[in-house]
Amino acid sequence: MQISVIGSGYVGLVAATCLAELGHKVICVDSDLAKIAALNAGEPLIHEDYLQELLSRHRGARLSFSSDLQDAARKSAVIFIAVGTPSAENGAVDLSCVEAVVQSLAGAMNGYKVIVEKSTVPVYTSERVHNALSSQGRTQADFDVVSNPEFLREGTAVTDFLYPDRIVVGASNERAAGIMREIYAPLIDGSYAQLASAVPKPEPARTLPMYIETSPRSAELIKHASNAFLALKISFINSVASFCESVGANIEEVSKGIGSDSRIGPEFLRAGIGYGGSCFPKDVAAFRAVTHEFGFEFPLLDEIKRINDGQRVRFISKVRSALRTLTGKKLAVLGLAFKDGTDDVRESPAIKIIEQLLEEKCHITAFDPAAMERARQILGNRINYASDAYAAADGADALLILTEWKEFASLDLNRIKRLLRSSIVLDGRNIFSQAEMAEAGLSYFSVGRPALEASGRLLKKGQSAR
Ligand code: UDX
Repeated sequence: MQISVIGSGYVGLVAATCLAELGHKVICVDSDLAKIAALNAGEPLIHEDYLQELLSRHRGARLSFSSDLQDAARKSAVIFIAVGTPSAENGAVDLSCVEAVVQSLAGAMNGYKVIVEKSTVPVYTSERVHNALSSQGRTQADFDVVSNPEFLREGTAVTDFLYPDRIVVGASNERAAGIMREIYAPLIDGSYAQLASAVPKPEPARTLPMYIETSPRSAELIKHASNAFLALKISFINSVASFCESVGANIEEVSKGIGSDSRIGPEFLRAGIGYGGSCFPKDVAAFRAVTHEFGFEFPLLDEIKRINDGQRVRFISKVRSALRTLTGKKLAVLGLAFKDGTDDVRESPAIKIIEQLLEEKCHITAFDPAAMERARQILGNRINYASDAYAAADGADALLILTEWKEFASLDLNRIKRLLRSSIVLDGRNIFSQAEMAEAGLSYFSVGRPALEASGRLLKKGQSAR
């Protein structure tokens, strides 16, 4: 099928590349000429596993890049809209980019088209798109609007697209629904995974995805509700972790106990300094704004954010009480990205904590395996950047772990202890066990677990390590 994907950000570029991988002819459109030039020259622009490989496989054959939206739309039967949907002041979604695309599409309808919302948009957007096209003289026979939300995670976006848990398609009639089934047929029937050239299926992933057909409104709501629910799981476990600290229980044991109930599941029960990234903070706020707009109060959504913000405050209090005072302290920070496996620092809890520690007049030396350049664009020379974790730790009053990078878990703790001026580690992601910290003789403060003195003795609540 001939498809256009409008937008070459994370969602658009991955969708365009993966739709080409499924056998479709795809034009990926962006108004940013520099981006199109880079993509045409074979630069993937973002780091995602398998993306470079698939781009090389399809670029110039089934996949092309263009800045001419109307030309691409005229050539296509299906148009995916995957442009940015930033937050407006009140947390609501700013739909101006989507609206601009729709305006442009109205002038390029040379036959029936399926217009697919791929960007995360609030419920009722499909009606708005429909009305905008109708007001430009387009009739029911010219188009259908379908909601097909994307659930990809940064770092695993390509395999999330090709081996999804579910594909959600909200169409208002069988004609559009049938075309969407055709697009996803190689995933629905599993034939894609059988190809010798297929990207390997990650473990664990469903053999066949659930293919869920709904109304457009339900599909739009599924996306916001899914992200809000995952954020809720994180805030819930973080609150339980805080209570564990009050009563001397261990959140790792509690999470395991809760998550082994198959009705709850073990995922997204990792306590820490809270969620960040380009999706959860934005989508929780947007979901809250759209419920409010429709006169429905959903205060639980406010609470998710309140708890998430509170996690950073709690962590900074721990740093302060471990060191007695923050002013003038030299701190080593490991992790700048909002999670491991990415160079993305958008809404990163690590960056927010660093900003606060700088206000408290701390001196910071940071290291991240991937996000140093992006962090530098925000923090500039207000902090120092180290070449590795050991260089960051050298002479510091404490070591702070703010991103869950797996490589941090294999650090040589004896070497870290020798390098630190005071043997204090504050782990905002619980990547170490208390036993290994006790063995290395480090004072260890984590989330939802009793604090540990350098001698291996458990500290009472509020007791300092020094
Ligand atoms: C998320 C959703 O998972 C994805 O389905 C959606 O399409 C986009 O938003 P992403 O933002 O890439 O994906 O990151 P994710 O892996 O979900 O992590 C989000 C944040 O939650 C990170 O800051 C991570 O550190 C944090 N997190 C995650 C926790 O604090 N605890 C957990 O148990 C899981």
